[in-house]
Amino acid sequence: VYLGIDLGTSGLRALLMDEKGAPIGAAERHYTADHPRSGWSEQDPGDWITALDGAIGDLRAAHPRFADLRGIGVAGHMHGATLLDAEGAVIRPCILWNDTRSHAEAAALDAAEGFRQISGNIVFPGFTAPKLDWLRRYEPENFAKIAKVLLPAAYLNFYLTGGFFADMSDSAGTSWLDTGARDWSEALLAAGGMRRDQMPDLLEGCQPGGELKPELAARWGLTGPVVVAAGAGDNAAAACGIGAMDEGQGFVSLGTSGVLLAARNGYRPAPETALHTFCHAVPGRWYQMGVMLSATDSLNWLARITGTPPKDLTASLGDTLRAPGRVRFLPYLSGERTPHNDAEIRGSFTGLGAETTRDDLTRAVLEGVAFGLRDSQAALAGTGLRLDRLMAIGGGTGSRYWLKLIATALNVTLDLPSGGEFGAALGAARLAMLAVGDGTIEEVMTQPAIREEIAPDPALRAEFDAAYERFRQAYPAIRAAQ
Ligand code: XUL
Repeated sequence: VYLGIDLGTSGLRALLMDEKGAPIGAAERHYTADHPRSGWSEQDPGDWITALDGAIGDLRAAHPRFADLRGIGVAGHMHGATLLDAEGAVIRPCILWNDTRSHAEAAALDAAEGFRQISGNIVFPGFTAPKLDWLRRYEPENFAKIAKVLLPAAYLNFYLTGGFFADMSDSAGTSWLDTGARDWSEALLAAGGMRRDQMPDLLEGCQPGGELKPELAARWGLTGPVVVAAGAGDNAAAACGIGAMDEGQGFVSLGTSGVLLAARNGYRPAPETALHTFCHAVPGRWYQMGVMLSATDSLNWLARITGTPPKDLTASLGDTLRAPGRVRFLPYLSGERTPHNDAEIRGSFTGLGAETTRDDLTRAVLEGVAFGLRDSQAALAGTGLRLDRLMAIGGGTGSRYWLKLIATALNVTLDLPSGGEFGAALGAARLAMLAVGDGTIEEVMTQPAIREEIAPDPALRAEFDAAYERFRQAYPAIRAAQ
């Protein structure tokens, strides 16, 4: 059996998968992020280890087949800077993907020669290189101690094996990778004040990176050797989980971040669109995605301030999709990546009236996130990609209303995969299976059965198109007002 670990922003999910690729069982543990200042977002890597130990304990207790474990794959939230000293100890809390403190450093690197051309991407404030630049400036004593910079998934690889290795898909989000050549760029490392020896070894996600340490194997009751795959960034792993390998196959993910991802059959970066162009977790493939920073985060925020759980907010809307009203929400609670690359913009409601109800606010929030995803769809269309169908994954897909809304706002059919397990944890388990040598990419990275299709509502299309236009116009106006 194989273990897929999804080290997410709000928790860690560990999934056990059998030799046919079918899920056996899963366990999840939660943790939080700290926001010590506005725009900051940090996690203690020790919390990931505690969550992992807890989830493994639960899996072992519930599934005797855990003892047959042969391979592990880790998927992690991307871009986070986990800094280790020469003894392998963590120097400071990990600065996460949704932390925008280094926006000035990001803008400077982005303007420097080479970064967009070689990395294929804008240097976004959430990416790793600007975080290190920020550290050099504001925490020089920590910066001086750095022996290794590991992304969260690579840090778990280190915990599991004692080795320093990372996969291409995650490493592409550092701004230090030559994304076309799939190698660290000496030029970008030097421009960012970093050295190759501070980086982990690079592997393809489905390659073996090391073996589970004997003391962990003993603690987990395992006798045979256990291979640890290089793993993946969570979005590439999710693409593996739904078998999105070929041109145009992709998903919309409603998690803390909102992602519209499509596999591409070659490397054609388009940084000017604010799309992300990253290596896939298997050799010779790339993918493109638009990322919005606050998707379910926007709904969770409304839930917090209204004192109503998110599922009650959406349930109160019923299942019948309604045309957008006057109230509009810009979902920029933490700034935005695609399409604006604007760390300083903040969200807003417009069109509030004395008659506005809580349901109106909920609808506006769901619409605002859908329109943010439509921005990413428009950016992908600008690169010549037409999307008619997308899988829908992530916690937000629990709301029918939201699914119908997104299908209509994007004019795509959304496919809901069946089986309950198809996200990053499954993709990571599939990478483990390949790393062990059990099967080919074609055999392992298959598409799930579809349990339901959500079609756009043609009667509401025109009204959603008009509302999207007003959403587009709101950004520059709100920008000017802030
Ligand atoms: C991708 C990104 C997020 C995180 C969330 O560029 O920053 O989707 O990977 O887990």
